[in-house]
Amino acid sequence: MAVFHVVCGWTAHALLLLSCLTAVAFLALCVYIKYTHMKYDHIPGPPRDNFFLGHSPTLLGIMKNDGIVHDKFLEWAERYGPVYRINILHYVTLSVSCPEATKEILMSPKYPKDKFVYKKLFNLFGQRFFGNGLLTARDHGLWYKQRRIMDPAFSSLYLRGLMGTFNERAEILMKKLTDAADGNTEANMLGLFNCVTLDVIAKVAFGVDLDLLKNSSPFPKAIETCLKGMVHYLRDVLFVYKPKNRPFINEVKEACRLLRTTGAQWIHERKTAMENGDDVPKDILTQIIKAAGKEDSMTKDDEELMLDNFVTFFIAGQETTANQLAFCVMELARHPDILEKVRQEVDDVIGMKQDISYDNLGNLTYLSQVLKETLRVYPTAPGTSRDVPEDMVIDGIHIPGGVTCMFSTYVCGRMDKFFTDPLTFDPDRFHPDATKPYYCYYPFALGPRSCLGQNFAQMEAKVVMAKLLQRFDFTLVPGQTFDMVDTGTLRPKSGVVCSIGHRKLKK
Ligand code: HEM
Repeated sequence: MAVFHVVCGWTAHALLLLSCLTAVAFLALCVYIKYTHMKYDHIPGPPRDNFFLGHSPTLLGIMKNDGIVHDKFLEWAERYGPVYRINILHYVTLSVSCPEATKEILMSPKYPKDKFVYKKLFNLFGQRFFGNGLLTARDHGLWYKQRRIMDPAFSSLYLRGLMGTFNERAEILMKKLTDAADGNTEANMLGLFNCVTLDVIAKVAFGVDLDLLKNSSPFPKAIETCLKGMVHYLRDVLFVYKPKNRPFINEVKEACRLLRTTGAQWIHERKTAMENGDDVPKDILTQIIKAAGKEDSMTKDDEELMLDNFVTFFIAGQETTANQLAFCVMELARHPDILEKVRQEVDDVIGMKQDISYDNLGNLTYLSQVLKETLRVYPTAPGTSRDVPEDMVIDGIHIPGGVTCMFSTYVCGRMDKFFTDPLTFDPDRFHPDATKPYYCYYPFALGPRSCLGQNFAQMEAKVVMAKLLQRFDFTLVPGQTFDMVDTGTLRPKSGVVCSIGHRKLKK
């Protein structure tokens, strides 16, 4: 009995202590949130939904209704100016659309990628995801070492050599579209573009033939699942704690594992080929293996780094380009005059030729303008963010250090003050003689951490679009929405379903 009393006494004390500690922790959090409010509230910003969650309920509400949070950021930028504040708990993020500050911060290696987003993306719900790969590495030294090794696989000399693969894979799509051009079949252009871009990246980056236009594969679904998971993981801190989300979280982890185990298998095959002295291509996979460290001194960490970069290229190298192509077809189908003009250029430069050369691409200037305008209105990777550790001044406002700055090419690209009549699709904004946008258009980001695959992506997009324009007529199947889906990247909600016909040549 006495023992029972002692145990009860201890339990009561422990509970009391725990309650006290919780109360103290809660109080400390309140004080800290109040302190961050006092530190940053001189910066304009929308009213907070509440003291603790700040603006998070508004943003989560938009996500829940399948809206685009970037539209809210745009609305706030119009109302609160070139730098405004967003609070979530004790975190403060500044949305910056001031071109000078964009230049200062993005062009400098001094400002690391923001820890809230990029450090978190090391894993997805506990399963290692992008890790310390090229996209997410925050430490300048670690990032720089990888980027230097990866650069040769993106040199213009090397990219020229990829024209064969770009042509070959795009031809498979043309063949597929020929089958669909029977007047009855509806083609989901986003789905088809996803197959081509994944085929291309698998072939040129990893030396693997997936042939997705002929074979089914779990990869497109796995990528989509990872991206969807990423959005919830980043934007909703409570997502992981809700039991109803468990099945989806397991699906995301499984998708992540599939990508990493595939990477491990392909890397193993390549390493074996290298060890056997086989002739291996100097492609991204070879560079990934080199970036991870010397064969004989490779640690577990080095192995994981290889998989980080494998996943990075598998995802970054595919989805954004497919979405850009789909948006491009959507806009061309809505603008017959622009379609006519770009098609005329393709006829002049390529004629009836099947194989498009690197030099041809340089002459497709109006097509370049069309692709650039597509990314202005529909930037498939809409933004980036940086930590700003020290005090600075943005647009005359003192910014105390220790804050995150968010940059959105979506917001700038749709602001009247940067682009007159911003919702009008007008490729002439990017005419070679037009004034270049000043730090308000950056679909591939800017500065040292800008997209490594920019030229790769635009070469690939041009080859696919040029062949499509050369051979087919396409019309949008009526009744489709022109809305977007936000999966971290932006994609067309409808999938851009078209009826396809063989091109009618003008008499
Ligand atoms: C239309 C297509 C593409 C768009 C719009 C795009 C956009 C971007 C953007 C905005 C970033 C910066 C991301 C951030 O700061 O969080 C980025 C980074 C990156 N992209 Fe792309 N990208 C495209 C295609 C590609 C392709 C095809 C590849 C590879 C073959 C690629 C590889 C990368 C890599 C490795 C990085 C990280 C670079 C670094 O930090 O050093 N991207 N991309």
